[in-house]
Amino acid sequence: MAEVKIITTEDGSHSLYHAELNETYHSFHGAVQESRYVFLKEGLDFLIANFDLDKIRVLEVGFGTGLNAILTSEWATKNKVKIEYTSLEPYPLKSEVYEALNYHEFFEDKTVKERFLELHNVAWEKNFQQNEFFTILKTEAKLQNFESSSLFDIVFFDAFAPSKQSEMWDLDVIEKTAELLDVNGVFVTYCAKGQLKRDLKTVGLTVETLPGPPGKKEMVRAVKR
Ligand SMILES: C[S@@+](CC[C@H](N)C(=O)[O-])C[C@H]1O[C@@H](n2cnc3c(N)ncnc32)[C@H](O)[C@@H]1O
Repeated sequence: MAEVKIITTEDGSHSLYHAELNETYHSFHGAVQESRYVFLKEGLDFLIANFDLDKIRVLEVGFGTGLNAILTSEWATKNKVKIEYTSLEPYPLKSEVYEALNYHEFFEDKTVKERFLELHNVAWEKNFQQNEFFTILKTEAKLQNFESSSLFDIVFFDAFAPSKQSEMWDLDVIEKTAELLDVNGVFVTYCAKGQLKRDLKTVGLTVETLPGPPGKKEMVRAVKR
């Protein structure tokens, strides 16, 4: 794992600075704000409003700080929707980093810190049922090598930016990701690059450009029809 440093973003929530890539894990305008907007509001809320699902299979590209995972666990419990969450992370964080993150301060539920650490501390490559609504499988696979026997209803594509880790955004990787989606599956990302939108169309997805979270003009959501 390369060196990372905890930083505080504009909504007061932490993120990480990856020195080697000169890149942060979240928007500097607010990590919690961005994740809630891109992945919960424009991802999960959209999915349950538009498609009739009795459970949601999520694939996250980049477990990282675990922020999206704990937000999704909270969302599942609040909405009483079953979620099976698969998260890929080839470079897990050290415990002294994730233990110092302040995400629990952004939740009403006071047990969230415990549940956040639980998501980090559970074994890799093994299903873990956190409660009636949320099950997680963390895998140390890279997206490029990931194989799955099941398809997904939504992909949280939360890779480092194309300018920093371009191989994550190559057409063959986007194609592979689209193949992992079931029919009516949704791809969401904070990125709104023209090349990404063209590639998503090339692999057969219907692409929408949406207003971005505060501080960012646009984001992308695409659906496999
Ligand atoms: C922008 S960060 C976001 C992480 C996380 N979603 C969060 O909220 O903290 C990108 C993440 O992708 C991970 N990553 C790097 N290469 C990857 C690969 N080939 N496949 C999957 N994830 C990768 C990084 O280690 C990092 O944790």
